[in-house]
Amino acid sequence: MAKMMSGSTPINPDSYTGTSSPPLTPPPASLPVRTIPGGYGWPLLGPISDRLDYNWFQGPNTFFTKRIEKHKSTVFRTNVPPCFPFFLGVNPNVVAVLDVKSFSHLFDMEIVEKANVLVGDFMPSVKYTGDMRVCAYLDTSEPKHTQIKNFSLDILKRSSKTWVPTLVNELNSMFETFESDISKSNSASLLPTMQKFLFNFFSLTLLGANPSASPEIANSGYVMLDTWLAIQLAPTVSIGVLQPLEEIFVHSFSYPYFLVKGSYEKLIQFVKNEAKEVLNRGKSEFGLTEQEAIHNLLFILGFNAFGGFTIFLPTLLGNLGDEKNAELQEKLKNEVREKVGLKPENLSFESVKEMELVQSFVYETLRLSPPVPSQYARARKDFKLSSHDSVYEIKKGELLCGYQPLVMRDPKVFDDPEKFVLERFTKEKGKELLNYLFWSNGPQTGRPTESNKQCAAKDVVTLTASLIVAYVFQRYDSVSFSSGSLTSVKKAS
Ligand code: HEM
Repeated sequence: MAKMMSGSTPINPDSYTGTSSPPLTPPPASLPVRTIPGGYGWPLLGPISDRLDYNWFQGPNTFFTKRIEKHKSTVFRTNVPPCFPFFLGVNPNVVAVLDVKSFSHLFDMEIVEKANVLVGDFMPSVKYTGDMRVCAYLDTSEPKHTQIKNFSLDILKRSSKTWVPTLVNELNSMFETFESDISKSNSASLLPTMQKFLFNFFSLTLLGANPSASPEIANSGYVMLDTWLAIQLAPTVSIGVLQPLEEIFVHSFSYPYFLVKGSYEKLIQFVKNEAKEVLNRGKSEFGLTEQEAIHNLLFILGFNAFGGFTIFLPTLLGNLGDEKNAELQEKLKNEVREKVGLKPENLSFESVKEMELVQSFVYETLRLSPPVPSQYARARKDFKLSSHDSVYEIKKGELLCGYQPLVMRDPKVFDDPEKFVLERFTKEKGKELLNYLFWSNGPQTGRPTESNKQCAAKDVVTLTASLIVAYVFQRYDSVSFSSGSLTSVKKAS
């Protein structure tokens, strides 16, 4: 990290609000100006060739790594999918930004805008969200963004009172199910039980809605969200189906909304009936219409919270229960027991904030496996973009694409970047490194506000993950997770 820190502008996390330039933006004049290398290839052929590399022949990691090597630059032009033949309106041309310094321009709302670029130039049909653009697709210059972002921050603030007891209750039922599965078949598959837990937990906390009020929602609400997510995101995600079938049937066209219309309407009804108090606040305090409140709540529940944790939690538990990690478990368990003993009543946001190692474990998991790997932003005006070693001229309207799994392995910032280092984010040096942890579309030292596009739940996500880790070590002496399943648990002695 010293390599990066020396000579760069001193960083004061407290002064960073996300509205001004990020702390990493250096004085551009000090670096040589370079033409952005790379290109978009022949019309149609270039995008198709890049798309096949990205999805099939190379995969995103190799795709970006090989091009960094070829162009000897972490900033270059390329295409990203989806593209021709059936995405005629989508422009696949991007400028990739793949080191910590160039990536951080994505957070500077004075120089970039974020309208409709959540997953790139492609945007799923607004039919999936009640014929409206929900918060994640709005730019900070749009007044509606302010209203909804503040609504989402308010939801989190209000639900913080019941957050921890609800979490413990729902974790109790999830781990009881896991234990019963293990006793029957020696292993418990994580996904269905975990998704039911996530659906219940976030419905209760974020919506104030109890899924058990509707048996169909209680049993299948999580499946309804899964299909709604899968169908709208299909063109942009890799699902590991045998190629070329995936390229032909999953990445070549958008699936129509009517396939999930029936179940989405049931979810709307659930929110209307069971989330009345939160809906009313959305209308009376934040000036939203009933429809705006419903569809934004569903997006926050389904896309942000349920979708985010569905990716994050298995990775977190996988890192925890990896057989190679016996020593890691011992260290985490000791910290948890020392701070809160064995009683779940002792768990709170305050008590996990005292667990430096548990939090560092969570941060390190987010560093190596950011659940939302790609981030996009469009140049609001012409500006100069700096990488560690050069300055590049970006033109208004160009789309920047950052791929976090590589950015979070930037060797100029993270020592031994490929290695999972449990203690990485501890002590003074670790706290300093939080300036460069970007999973939430902003630094971990930043603050989500109406003026930026940082995840509203930046702190709630890391604290909830820390609470889950602490809960595990109150309940168990050790656990083993392998290939998406919990394979053994040793009850706390
Ligand atoms: C592991 C879980 C989560 C992950 C990985 C995650 C990640 C992200 C990321 C990367 C963004 C920015 C997307 C972009 O513009 O490029 C974002 C935005 C957002 N997230 Fe999260 N998120 C998670 C959980 C949550 C939860 C629990 C909430 C509940 C309130 C939430 C609410 C939001 C909202 C409202 C936005 C839009 C912010 C804006 O438009 O200004 N997220 N999230």
